[in-house]
Amino acid sequence: MKLVKLIANLGYGSRKEVTLMFREGRITDPDGEVLYADDKVPHEHIRIDEEPLDPPAGMVLAMYKPLGATCSRKDIGRVVYDLLPPRYRVRDPALSTVGRLDRDTSGLLLFTDDGALLHRIISPKARVAKVYEATLANDLRGDEGVLFASGSMMLESETDPLEPVTLEVLEPRRARVTLTEGRYHQVRRMFAAVGNHVEALSRISVGALTLEGLQPGEWRALEEQEIARIFASPAGG
Ligand code: URA
Repeated sequence: MKLVKLIANLGYGSRKEVTLMFREGRITDPDGEVLYADDKVPHEHIRIDEEPLDPPAGMVLAMYKPLGATCSRKDIGRVVYDLLPPRYRVRDPALSTVGRLDRDTSGLLLFTDDGALLHRIISPKARVAKVYEATLANDLRGDEGVLFASGSMMLESETDPLEPVTLEVLEPRRARVTLTEGRYHQVRRMFAAVGNHVEALSRISVGALTLEGLQPGEWRALEEQEIARIFASPAGG
């Protein structure tokens, strides 16, 4: 792919704007040698204003989604894309969230521009384990674990029972749940179905990938071996 198109697709500007960036000598190699639009240079050797180029297509990001941000590109309030460089919103192929977390849920949120990978992660067949910690309004009754694990629990206005969900009691009002599906508001609706209410919810892992190294609002691009961990079992699972 021509350098102009490659850089424009990464969201740095229109082809016209990127052509101008070449003319201005802003696009260089690591030694500061000016590059030209027709040069053939490995991705990792390209610098823009002395900064390395963003990762190429096939990128996967992990974010510690803070409370209050919505998983959409545009919304009235803060959206998760506001936490990324503005050019990440206009990359081609487009960068999407891998599933969604509610506005009032924090924790591990993945993004990718690789549609096939996205479907592999969210497909119920892949059974990727998503682990959440919930703080509840009322003490657990003690029978929730059996119902959640039954494989026959029905949520209101749904026609298929839920896949078995593992419940681990952490404290009388705190629980860890492990899901292999991602139905709409699933954790909140499951606890509502047993007469409880989720006051706070955070996703702590997807597969064997955790929030390690990230603070709320932070994100980073994942390495190959971290992407592979998405498909591994959670620690202790
Ligand atoms: N379940 C929920 O209820 N909300 C989320 O954000 C994720 C899972």
